[in-house]
Amino acid sequence: MKDIKASVPAKVILFGEHAVVYNESAIAIPVSDVRASAMIDFDNSLSEPLIAVDNWKLRYSFADKDIPQKFQHIVKAINLVRETLNSDFQRSNWRLRISSQIPIARGMGSSAAISVLLFRVLFRLAGKELTQKKLIELSYEMEKFHHGTPSGIDNAVIALEAPIIFQKSKGFKLINTKKFHFVIADTGVGKKTASVVADVAKRYQKNKRSYTEIFKAIGSVTSQGLDALRLGNKPKLGQLMNLNQSLLDELGVSSPELDRLIEIALSKKAPGAKLCGAGKGGCILALANDHDHANELCRTLLKAGAVHGFVTTLK
Ligand code: PMV
Repeated sequence: MKDIKASVPAKVILFGEHAVVYNESAIAIPVSDVRASAMIDFDNSLSEPLIAVDNWKLRYSFADKDIPQKFQHIVKAINLVRETLNSDFQRSNWRLRISSQIPIARGMGSSAAISVLLFRVLFRLAGKELTQKKLIELSYEMEKFHHGTPSGIDNAVIALEAPIIFQKSKGFKLINTKKFHFVIADTGVGKKTASVVADVAKRYQKNKRSYTEIFKAIGSVTSQGLDALRLGNKPKLGQLMNLNQSLLDELGVSSPELDRLIEIALSKKAPGAKLCGAGKGGCILALANDHDHANELCRTLLKAGAVHGFVTTLK
């Protein structure tokens, strides 16, 4: 049997994180230059499936009860596929290898990327068709497993590999954008999305009125951002990213490390910069004037201490 291969992009949230949990719209874009990939090949010397993530290897038996922590999400995905298809995989001589360039717990969708990848290759292993709708549904189940009460934006943008506007009650719509260049810089500080979302929820419970206002203001930034993306209005897009950042700061999800990288990007003439994802760590997203400027910003941010820097173009 031929090898089965799949590859998926990272993602960032351009506008609307946190507010999206409270049913405001958010815009997410794929980061096609940063990817995760998976391959299944077949080896007759294997008596049961072998799963390898980086240098970790697990010989997997469907009857296994004690699964190492590092593999639990993979086994959960395998079991979801088995339940969904109501059948076991026929073969046991397969080897699944996963590798990812996406930094973990930095707001770039690493967990959603692995889920989408797994469903793509496992359905093909089972010889079944997987629609985009089913893929988004299944990867959302995995997002709940990872993050508690996720909005569903990460798995949708990664499965579609296209910019989307997303609202919990309405789902997603693909959006047409003009070309923009961005830089992503990682503070090196890991964060847990579920706990940052839970902290915002606690503060919201104590102060519903002002938090609702902030969420609504973020929702309005997102809809103006949609126009700026469609029209190719770079100064407006930058301004809106800055406004979104100050609203995220009011929600209490920025951090000194994020603020510092944002300040550096703005001082080097980025038209806009903001944290992306849950915040309290993770990455910033800065808009650049053109591709050369994006590379220059990336070098500056890495020199200033960012632990990863990526340049990406939205076309
Ligand atoms: O940091 P990430 O990539 O997990 O994004 C979190 C975005 C939130 O809006 C804070 C939560 C969500 O589920 O949408």
